[in-house]
Amino acid sequence: MSSSSEVLPDDFPDAINRVVFDQETISRRVGELADTISQDYSGKNTVVVGILQGAYAFTCDLINELDFPVSPEFIRISRYQKPFTGEVEIVEDVQQDITGQHVLLVEDIVDTGLTLNFLVQILLDRNPASLAVCALLDRSELRLVDIPIKYVGFQVNDEFLIGYGLDFRGSYRDLPFVATMNPQSVVPTNLSA
Ligand code: PRP
Repeated sequence: MSSSSEVLPDDFPDAINRVVFDQETISRRVGELADTISQDYSGKNTVVVGILQGAYAFTCDLINELDFPVSPEFIRISRYQKPFTGEVEIVEDVQQDITGQHVLLVEDIVDTGLTLNFLVQILLDRNPASLAVCALLDRSELRLVDIPIKYVGFQVNDEFLIGYGLDFRGSYRDLPFVATMNPQSVVPTNLSA
C-alpha cells in the first residue's frame, strides 16, 4: 500500500499542502477492502451504514465495489459539546430496523474512537446479528478508547487532513484525494471572517 505526493494543478486551493492519498491510491484500496468485505459478508443479510457527514464519499465508493446487493443506509450524527465528551447525538437515524442484520458501520476517520464507541453502543442495543467497523483512515496514535476496527484503509499520522469527505470548517470535502493543509491556512477561529 503506498501513499503518494503529486504536483498540484494551478487551480487547486492554496490551502492544500500535500496530497497524502491520491485518487488512484484511494480507489485501489477501496477495491481491496470491498473484496475482503464481499468474501466475509457473502450470503449474509447485510446493512452498510455510512456515518455522515464525513463518510459519504467512502461509503458510496465502497458499496459500488461490493459484489453482493446492499441497501445503503446513513446515520447523521452531531458532536455538539466542546470539549467533546464522547457523547453523540443522532440527528438522522437509519431507516431500517437493524435487529438480526449484519451491520457494517463505515467511517472516514477514527481519532480518539469516542464517536464510534458511543455510536456502536447505541446500535448494539438494537440487537444486530453482528456489528463491525470499516474506516478509511485510522489515526490510532490519538486513540483514547479501545474500539475494534475490522477493516482499515490506511494508517495516518497526526496531521490535519482534508478531502474525500474530510473537511476544514465545511470546505474541501469534495476533493477527490486526501491532503494535508498549509499551516498558514489553518488560522485561529477568532481571526476568521
Ligand atoms: C470526524 C469523523 C468521525 C470523528 C472521529 O467527524 O468523521 O466521526 O471525527 O473522531 P473521534 O474518533 O475523535 O471521535 P467530524 O466531527 O469531523 O464530523 P464530520 O463527519 O461531519 O466531518
